Amino acid sequence: MKKILFSFIAAAICTAAFAQNESKLAATPQMGWSSWNKFAFNINEKVLKETADKMVELGLVDLGYVYLNIDDGWHGERDEQGFIQADPEKFPKGMKELTDYLHSKGLKAGIYSDAGRMTCGCKAGSQGHEYQDAYTYASWGFDYLKYDWCFTENVNPQGAYKLMRAALDWAGRPIFFSMCEWGQSKPWEWAAGVGDSWRSTGDIANTYADQVHYKDDGTTWTSLGFVTIVDLNEPLRAYAGPGHWNDPDMLEVGNGMTVSEDRAHFTLWCMMAAPLILGNDLMNMSDETMAIITNREAIAIDQDPLGIQGFRKEKNPDGLEYWYKPLENGDWAVCVFNRSEKEISTVIDWKSLDVVDSLSGRATNFDDIQYNVKDLWNAAAKPVTTKKNLKVVIPSHDVVLYRLTPKVNY
Ligand code: GLA
Repeated sequence: MKKILFSFIAAAICTAAFAQNESKLAATPQMGWSSWNKFAFNINEKVLKETADKMVELGLVDLGYVYLNIDDGWHGERDEQGFIQADPEKFPKGMKELTDYLHSKGLKAGIYSDAGRMTCGCKAGSQGHEYQDAYTYASWGFDYLKYDWCFTENVNPQGAYKLMRAALDWAGRPIFFSMCEWGQSKPWEWAAGVGDSWRSTGDIANTYADQVHYKDDGTTWTSLGFVTIVDLNEPLRAYAGPGHWNDPDMLEVGNGMTVSEDRAHFTLWCMMAAPLILGNDLMNMSDETMAIITNREAIAIDQDPLGIQGFRKEKNPDGLEYWYKPLENGDWAVCVFNRSEKEISTVIDWKSLDVVDSLSGRATNFDDIQYNVKDLWNAAAKPVTTKKNLKVVIPSHDVVLYRLTPKVNY
């Protein structure tokens, strides 16, 4: 107990110093992998260590996917003093041994809890144990906390999330705080400075547009196809930026959609400066999935240092959507998304596609500035510029993605 008290005091002293580093944790949207979308409750130290090894072997860590996040289902019981324990069958060596392993591989470690009595999977929630749990996560060496919103009954969200924020600061370890309250209380309006990111919508499903309904113990839970999520997250762009990101949920790339849909999903997440948290089985992944999640230039759009969430310029009756994202050094990302059920051939007439973005104060000027156009999903494409119209064929539910760079001395 003495030891614990000492650590508590030491932690409190360190708080001020670490608090200054917080925003640095989220200078760009977080990247990593989470157990939930594919493994749900079927997690244990073996599968997580194997995933960590794969993340290193495949070069994902070098690409920026640094967090390995354990989602719901890791919990055992609380001990007599109320300290949470890991499930001894799933994690026989304990959490500290696991985070040491992850850190030794160059990864960061994420854990999951809930502001209510129980997690969504009916494990022990943090309500009434916030400081104790923050202390435990810090002492186990975790670097990231996803904090869910099940079984909160009539708790005030601002109070609950600010309480855990304060507990994390007090615990004295820089811990990325990923709020998961599904956008119900409009956290984008109040949570900058509380969470490093906040979920802006309900849960994602591995579907294009369908909603999937789960019934469990009399409760109904709806998960959303990714285009439904896009429509909910897109209007929130003014609230996102370095240190405080809109989070339209973890990626479903590689979890059963078509390659076109996976590519569109990944691309739109990059255009929206969304967290890139992989959710597939890295041990059993197709070459197509691997090519999508390792596209450096698409990732660079997501991770652009300006941190401006992109926007939809227009939605055409044929189903084509034009998306723009201002990037550093006067560059732009432009994505054309074919939302329709059929392949579309079109001509990109740059001069008719100028945008003025009042939020960032940036504008394109295709009359006076010529841009080099780099096709980010087709490395074999011939280099072209915005001087000429560009003919493209976009399969149903697919995208084209370009990086535009102002041409000097043309
Ligand atoms: C909620 C969250 C999901 C996941 C599950 C775990 O539904 O929104 O992302 O963490 O709980 O039970």
